[in-house]
Amino acid sequence: MTETPHSTAPTIGVFDSGFGGLTVLAALIPKLPRARFAFIGDTARLPYGSKSRRTIARYAVESAQFLVREQGAEFLVIACNTASALALDAIQDAVPVPVLGVIEPGATAARAASKTGDVLVIATDATVQSHAYKAACAAQNLRALEKACPLLVPFVEEGWTSHPVTDEVIRIYLNELATQAATDGLNPDALVLGCTHYPLLRPLIERAVPAGMNVIDSAESTAATAAGMFNGRAKPKHAINDNQPTEIHCFATDSVEKFERLGSRFLGRPVGKVQLVDLGG
Ligand code: DGL
Repeated sequence: MTETPHSTAPTIGVFDSGFGGLTVLAALIPKLPRARFAFIGDTARLPYGSKSRRTIARYAVESAQFLVREQGAEFLVIACNTASALALDAIQDAVPVPVLGVIEPGATAARAASKTGDVLVIATDATVQSHAYKAACAAQNLRALEKACPLLVPFVEEGWTSHPVTDEVIRIYLNELATQAATDGLNPDALVLGCTHYPLLRPLIERAVPAGMNVIDSAESTAATAAGMFNGRAKPKHAINDNQPTEIHCFATDSVEKFERLGSRFLGRPVGKVQLVDLGG
């Protein structure tokens, strides 16, 4: 059992397969500064991006239930692109609170950024195979070309966010994507970072894309959507006290020290003491 919340602020649960989703939490905090945030990174079972829908759904549901049952979350943000792409329905069925994923906000941000109506998406294998971004973009009248970049998550996990090898691999992936786009007759002007880890590679990615290509991180768009839902439809049970500082509680299913060390890089501030949680195998 983990420490039970004492706070009277409404709890927003944020879930990722690892600590990459802290980039989404970083965007949520200024939008909902009076909330209490409970973040869980399922670090023991990362990466999700190479696993099957069934496994991803089982893992993601366990984390979502932890946030709702043990942390009292009244609203969930699924910061993990892979879990949003493959398990959003399963999570929504499993918990009695509103759940927001990152795919639709990402497509909305791409719509706002693209003039040509053609966009590129880079993501994990599982996200690309699900074609969740393609479908969400089509709903916004965008044509999307998706590409899996499976080497990038391990590079970020290794802390190689400005390493020459990472730089070279990004260029190779993006060149392949540009060649495919030309073959398909697309004229893309936006690139969606469809994975929690990729915002950490943004400087390298921005240097590698052609001039005029907008690089989209769904975190801001997700945070704006979350704030709208939370302040509207998902009314908190508790009154919000304006003088209450943002509370952040982080949980991980493994490697708490690594989470504490690297997590601050994703969150942009110290993550504090991270608690270990056992969600089973
Ligand atoms: N969180 C995952 C995502 O956003 C990336 C890491 C993983 O493969 O688990 O797709």
